[in-house]
Amino acid sequence: MSKRYDKPIPLGWYAVDYSAKLQAGNVKPLSYFGRELVLFRTESGEAKLLDAYCPHLGAHLGHGGKVVGDSISCPFHAWKYNGEGYCTDVPYAKRMPPKVDGKQIIRSYPVVEQNNMVWAWYHPGDAEPGFEVFAIPELSSPEWSEMVSCDWTFNSIIQETGENAADIAHFVTVHGIPDMPVGKVTMEGHIRRTLMLSEVQVIGEEGEIDRSGENLEAGHLESVNYGPGQTYQKFSRMFDIVMMGTLTPIDDQSMHMRFNFSMPKAQSEEHALYAKGFMDEIVHQVEQDIPIWENKVYLESPVLCDGDGPIAQYRKWFQQFYA
Ligand code: FES
Ligand SMILES: [Fe+2]
Repeated sequence: MSKRYDKPIPLGWYAVDYSAKLQAGNVKPLSYFGRELVLFRTESGEAKLLDAYCPHLGAHLGHGGKVVGDSISCPFHAWKYNGEGYCTDVPYAKRMPPKVDGKQIIRSYPVVEQNNMVWAWYHPGDAEPGFEVFAIPELSSPEWSEMVSCDWTFNSIIQETGENAADIAHFVTVHGIPDMPVGKVTMEGHIRRTLMLSEVQVIGEEGEIDRSGENLEAGHLESVNYGPGQTYQKFSRMFDIVMMGTLTPIDDQSMHMRFNFSMPKAQSEEHALYAKGFMDEIVHQVEQDIPIWENKVYLESPVLCDGDGPIAQYRKWFQQFYA
């Protein structure tokens, strides 16, 4: 079967794990960027990401590898590698093989920790990071709750799922929003910001959505893309809630999406209940989108009409992430 998408994996910062789920000494196999990877945290506490296969005889470092100091030790013959991909020890050799000595022998990825997550920089040509992960103030504030997270893996690519926000007509048809939202988009480099005002369904006392279409209130949504892998959404109705979306390519045909929510701790119990209903609604909306994403094709030259949102403009913006 031919590939559904014929695009490279975009360059960018991508969430690969939650910081709290990666303790010192932990080793995890990951499959992202169309590659097999190993994520580990050194004894001194730094998160590191390397390609998974040991250059000695090919063992997967993520299956049985052990952290020793700042290195990971291969499960097969115990050669050790640091987080920059240099061999630090060949325990039974009299001298380091010249191919390995003083050279980076495994591909390593720049890693940062931000917003309670571990992020890796992917660039197909291994170029240095061209921008930063955005530090979301609410997610490090003691006044905001710990993140509540959910995730999905499915067959689509980030350019396509990101187009959802620009595709305003589908909010009515797929998500049952009464009217097309009105948005103002601004773009600067890797940042794309949308301010949306819309009439939204009222959330009832039990946190349930009133889908009758008869009861509406004003909703205010700020939605920002920081490169291809990170989104920030702030919803303000009678309550506040922020969401950080993370989008990580598994390969050039599939992806891993995570939604992380936080709300003010001081919010009234009633508003917290509304916020919970709202989170459920967002999750419900993604689950309405996924079957469309998984089965559609990407049209280079779609037939658009005047009521469609700024789709062409979005696509142009996204091009910068194809190296
Ligand atoms: S395969 Fe890794 S040390 Fe031999
Ligand atoms: Fe959608």
